[in-house]
Amino acid sequence: MSRHSMPLLLIATMLPMLTHGFVESKYLKTRVFYEPSGCEENIFYNYLKTTTSSTPSSCGLQCSTTTDCRRIMFDRKTKICLMFESGENCFHHENIEDKDCYRLRYVASGQNYTRCPIGYYGDTCQNIIEDCSDGFNRFRPVQLISYIKPAASDKVLVANCHFNWDGMTYVQYRFSKCLEEDFNRTWTEYVNGFGHNHGEHWLGLQNMYNILQNYDSYKLQIYLSINGQGWQHYYYSFHLQNETSAFRFSKSRIKGHSEFPAGDSLTNGSYSLEGRPFSTYDRDQSNNDCPDRFKGGWWYLDDPVCSRGNLNGRRNATNFESRIHWLDNLGTLTDFSEVQIRLTRE
Ligand SMILES: *[C@@H]1O[C@H](CO)[C@@H](O)[C@H](O)[C@H]1NC(C)=O
Ligand SMILES: *[C@@H]1O[C@H](CO)[C@@H](O)[C@H](O)[C@H]1NC(C)=O
Ligand SMILES: *[C@@H]1O[C@H](CO)[C@@H](O)[C@H](O)[C@H]1NC(C)=O
Ligand SMILES: *[C@@H]1O[C@H](CO)[C@@H](O)[C@H](O)[C@H]1NC(C)=O
Ligand SMILES: *[C@@H]1O[C@H](CO)[C@@H](O)[C@H](O)[C@H]1NC(C)=O
Repeated sequence: MSRHSMPLLLIATMLPMLTHGFVESKYLKTRVFYEPSGCEENIFYNYLKTTTSSTPSSCGLQCSTTTDCRRIMFDRKTKICLMFESGENCFHHENIEDKDCYRLRYVASGQNYTRCPIGYYGDTCQNIIEDCSDGFNRFRPVQLISYIKPAASDKVLVANCHFNWDGMTYVQYRFSKCLEEDFNRTWTEYVNGFGHNHGEHWLGLQNMYNILQNYDSYKLQIYLSINGQGWQHYYYSFHLQNETSAFRFSKSRIKGHSEFPAGDSLTNGSYSLEGRPFSTYDRDQSNNDCPDRFKGGWWYLDDPVCSRGNLNGRRNATNFESRIHWLDNLGTLTDFSEVQIRLTRE
């Protein structure tokens, strides 16, 4: 008889003998990453509950009996067992070498899951959402790390989702309290994505392109904030061309957020990025060294101005153009604590 088929009660009574058996049969060991204090309280922490447990197995057992728990972080020294609603990996600001991370093992399709992974739904978790807007009204209206599968692709992705306000799929995220990710990356990295979904990251141009094929019309939302004061700008009917066409940028309509418009730095007047191909330092289509000057990939102009917004730049560069900035409405402000680029179905 394999441990997988043992009734839960039997496992519980045999616990002293099975120090690792339970957690390993029901959970997959994932990774613990360092992130500074402050980052871990960020919006994708998905924290549910804290208890103490003698072993990873008893922590796993407690997770199994806690509604919505899918991931645990166990501290071998302090015996603290933290439970989370979603996500693959864990992160913490101290003593990560003492900690282990596990997430629920999701069984093969055809069998019933004990608990669907976030993003999957149906009686036997047979369905998966195509993007975070598709998860709107299916999941709790909160921010969760979710599995998604764009209809045009065979690949299941992990994305940061906000299942509120029509559902938002994060395609880029910067946060001053997390470790800074280097956005000076190659074409291939910009196509496939980079960074960690628990911190700063870029979802990938091909993934964005695939999401955009799910539905008629998406808006691209830009959100910038400095210590809680936020500004937004929306680009409606946002489209990208395919990789052969260098993921050229296009939108049809624009609209600022009525209360706190960030201004249109991307398509305003003669500096519009409309129709521009994406550029990286190893595939520069700007003819003006823009990826090196702005220190990241973007849909740069073929013009010395490059772009009136730099959201993939450095958080703390000494010269203005390579720092994160957004000229229209926000002028020379650069010390943004947060930048979010998100896709939402219109
Ligand atoms: C899965 O659950 C459904 C409904 O709850 C049930 O009808 C079905 O028999 C279960 N399948 C398996 C393989 O246990
Ligand atoms: C990319 O788009 C162009 C223009 O629409 C089209 O001609 C080409 O076949 C597409 N390439 C792929 C690989 O889909
Ligand atoms: C466009 O740019 C001009 C000049 O910088 C600025 O005054 C105007 O507010 C911008 N328009 C929008 C919609 O952001
Ligand atoms: C970007 O990365 C490449 C490869 O590591 C390097 O050669 C180049 O100097 C970097 N550019 C900047 C602006 O850091
Ligand atoms: C980077 O800039 C932020 C915002 O101005 C500041 O709080 C932080 O201390 C700076 N970090 C470094 C390493 O200079």
